[in-house]
Amino acid sequence: MAAKKKTLTRPKAKKPKAAAKKIKTALKAKPSKPVKAMSAKALRFQPEVRVYPTPDTLFQETAHQFMQIAREAVNERGRFVAALSGGSTPKGLFQQLAEEPYRTLIPWAKTYLFWVDERHVPLTDATSNYRMTQEFLLAKAPIPKANVFPMTDGSQPVERAASVYEIKMGKFFGAGALPRFDLTLLGMGDDGHTASLFPGMPQVNELHKWVVGYFVDEARKERVSLTFPVLNASRNLLVLMEGQKKAERLKDVLEGSSEPPRYPVQYLRPPGGKLLFAMDAAAAALLKK
Ligand code: 6PG
Repeated sequence: MAAKKKTLTRPKAKKPKAAAKKIKTALKAKPSKPVKAMSAKALRFQPEVRVYPTPDTLFQETAHQFMQIAREAVNERGRFVAALSGGSTPKGLFQQLAEEPYRTLIPWAKTYLFWVDERHVPLTDATSNYRMTQEFLLAKAPIPKANVFPMTDGSQPVERAASVYEIKMGKFFGAGALPRFDLTLLGMGDDGHTASLFPGMPQVNELHKWVVGYFVDEARKERVSLTFPVLNASRNLLVLMEGQKKAERLKDVLEGSSEPPRYPVQYLRPPGGKLLFAMDAAAAALLKK
């Protein structure tokens, strides 16, 4: 749900000089944090859908897109800032990125990596998204350690971990303005969740915090996650799905009714960015189109 920007109204000119000064100050004002989310009706859930014949072609093609976005971001803004998801699907993509030609083609020295979400555990824990990324990507790609921002190491209360990460993001992106990732890599859970924003959880509707930390349930334990205003501020949202396990839910999400509370992934509606659902044929097996 994209944040609605506060519109600056031009002050009535009393004395031209004072008015001009007021307008200049107003125009320089940094956009404030989201006042009110854009209503779901205002922005429709309209992903571009790309289906690749096999997992290999899915990961090769998305690695190429990752590289293109990275190079374009560095050319245009001097750096490439991405937020990565965990789970298992990204492993195939990370393996591609860590090998040639992408190991050479991606401007790693100007690449900065954050996380979309994380399990609130030590970085060495078997379930840590950071640990998976370390194993499949960071240990092999020549990215400076200082460019990598782990989300949590599980050592403090989960809510505190979320606010510490939000401060870290504020320092990096500049406080006040909503952080804008060049690329946000997401997955979709079998229940239609994305990031660690699960059906029925109030954190799905968070409109002001950039990062939330909370106990989900006994199975998924404590999680730290970016919120939808931040996800939807991204220039590129890439949702990666692979395998027959995703087919049923993908049919509901892409060809069923719009029910974002039930399928939070449908809240991905970037007003100023691209939304791409990239999948292999197995995941797309039940789609009509
Ligand atoms: C996590 C992820 C999560 C993931 C989906 C899909 O921490 O688990 O960020 O949102 O993207 O659950 O997971 P798979 O890729 O393992 O299917």
